[in-house]
Amino acid sequence: MGFKVAVVGATGNVGREMLDILAERTFPADEVVAIASRKSQGVEVTFGEKTLKVKALEHYDFSDVDICLMSAGSAVSKEWSPKIAAQGAVVIDNSSCWRYDADVPLIVPEVNADAVVGFRKRGIIANPNCSTAQLVVALKPLHDKARIKRVVVATYQSVSGAGKDAMDELFEQTKAVYTLGEIETKKFPKRIAFNLIPHIDVFMEDGYTKEEWKMVAEIKKILDPKIKLTATCVRVPVFIGHSEAVNVEFEEPITVDEAHDILRKAPGCLVIDKHEPGGYITPYECAGEDATYISRVREDSTVENGLTFWCVSDNLRKGAALNAVQIAECLINRKLISAKRKAA
Ligand SMILES: NC(=O)c1ccc[n+]([C@@H]2O[C@H](COP(=O)([O-])OP(=O)(O)OC[C@H]3O[C@@H](n4cnc5c(N)ncnc54)[C@H](OP(=O)(O)O)[C@@H]3O)[C@@H](O)[C@H]2O)c1
Repeated sequence: MGFKVAVVGATGNVGREMLDILAERTFPADEVVAIASRKSQGVEVTFGEKTLKVKALEHYDFSDVDICLMSAGSAVSKEWSPKIAAQGAVVIDNSSCWRYDADVPLIVPEVNADAVVGFRKRGIIANPNCSTAQLVVALKPLHDKARIKRVVVATYQSVSGAGKDAMDELFEQTKAVYTLGEIETKKFPKRIAFNLIPHIDVFMEDGYTKEEWKMVAEIKKILDPKIKLTATCVRVPVFIGHSEAVNVEFEEPITVDEAHDILRKAPGCLVIDKHEPGGYITPYECAGEDATYISRVREDSTVENGLTFWCVSDNLRKGAALNAVQIAECLINRKLISAKRKAA
């Protein structure tokens, strides 16, 4: 028998993508259950050729669930992940709730799959922030070659990273611009249509935002605590796909040709880098794709061993749902979990 998988947050942006990815990859599940808040009970969501009726989290018994893919925000995860783990399911969580807990592994399978065994302490595995996931996929092979000292990154993050209500807000505001209607701001602090906002998540004491702080903390936990990183995170009026302008300073020399070669062979990366109009990838083109795309690799001659590049990925896939499913596959492939029903 296969595994029983619960998707908590199944009506959301990430949850729906998780269901699609489980179906696309013919994940070895005998049963998949869709779970959300009480208000969504009975709503139908698509899972491959089937539809699933959503169940309410508060009434759900997880005792026969093997894997719980959780994407319902930090507050829900804080309350529910330990309870679900106590019922014997491994929780793979997409919120920021557990990422910085020393007893919870923070995993991007292409980068630090071996750390997944740490799930045994709490029964929880964390997914990184969407901007971190694509960045570490690109940085890991370069770090292995030339040791990264410092990274300066500016992100251009799509509205889907802020959930389904944020996508509706961009849509409604854009419509209002064309129909001379009133522009309402709810989810974002300023208008996002035909604009951009240099502020994601709350402000910290030092003037950075929590989104920027997350990239620093997460890259250290996943890749190397010695790497220094400074980020500016910006929300842009794009529906799906996060972009990053990345500047990296290395310990050792590394040429553009070497970086191209390394990134072409690296798991999860695709290099599209022609010096001509359109010879690079934009977020619109990466939507629905699994890869982290690298373009515009060039030498930064203002520092000793510097490279600059452009990095784009679908934030709902590699930045969240795909990464979570890959972690689940990693647990299964490494035989770290077995199906409860088979054992019975
Ligand atoms: N979007 C991204 O790119 C991205 C990337 C990495 C991580 N994440 C994280 O993933 C999580 C979900 O993000 P999202 O973009 O999918 O948000 P979303 O579109 O707003 O969806 C939120 C989901 O959580 C469910 N939910 C909310 N309160 C609940 C409750 N009390 N009990 C059960 N379910 C509840 C919602 O169900 P109802 O429809 O019933 O309210 C919905 O299914 C967040 O923690 C986010 O930070 C997102």
